[in-house]
Amino acid sequence: MSVFLADEAATAALAERLQAALPERPAGWTILLNGELGAGKSTLARALLRAMGHEGAVPSPTYTLVEPYQLSGITVYHVDLYRVADPEELRYLGFNELDDGLRLIEWAERAPELQDQADLGIQLDYEGEGRRASFKGLSERGTALAEALSA
Ligand SMILES: Nc1ncnc2c1ncn2[C@@H]1O[C@H](COP(=O)(O)OP(=O)(O)O)[C@@H](O)[C@H]1O
Ligand SMILES: [Mg+2]
Repeated sequence: MSVFLADEAATAALAERLQAALPERPAGWTILLNGELGAGKSTLARALLRAMGHEGAVPSPTYTLVEPYQLSGITVYHVDLYRVADPEELRYLGFNELDDGLRLIEWAERAPELQDQADLGIQLDYEGEGRRASFKGLSERGTALAEALSA
């Protein structure tokens, strides 16, 4: 289940489709964004935040690990695990308490145990000048979402 993204605009369009396919208040959802440096994880996260109504800047959570966004009716937690070496650090981060909102997690492969808590995995890979996004359902509702995005 994958789609080709020819340019950055296509990545942004995917974010808009993702927003439309999610519930209006995706509280308790977890989406994992994987792929190497420059694959477009932050681009997708930023475009999803915009599609959900966020208007300001979207700073990288690389150093803060979590950037929370209060949007109408929902908190979105933009997480970047790039600097997380030990999954134990997630406990210190209070990661499990972020389940009141939508968790959008870059470099999720740093914490393999997140797979069990997640709904959808989006893998971004370089393909020619563009990127390929591959979807993996990790829960029942996430699988339905993956199918909607691949159609
Ligand atoms: N589908 C695409 N095709 C080509 N370039 C893209 C695409 N999507 C995003 N980009 C570009 O690739 C880079 C992705 O950077 P970023 O989103 O920070 O990646 P990551 O967070 O995965 O390290 C940006 O320069 C962006 O303009
Ligand atoms: Mg990034």
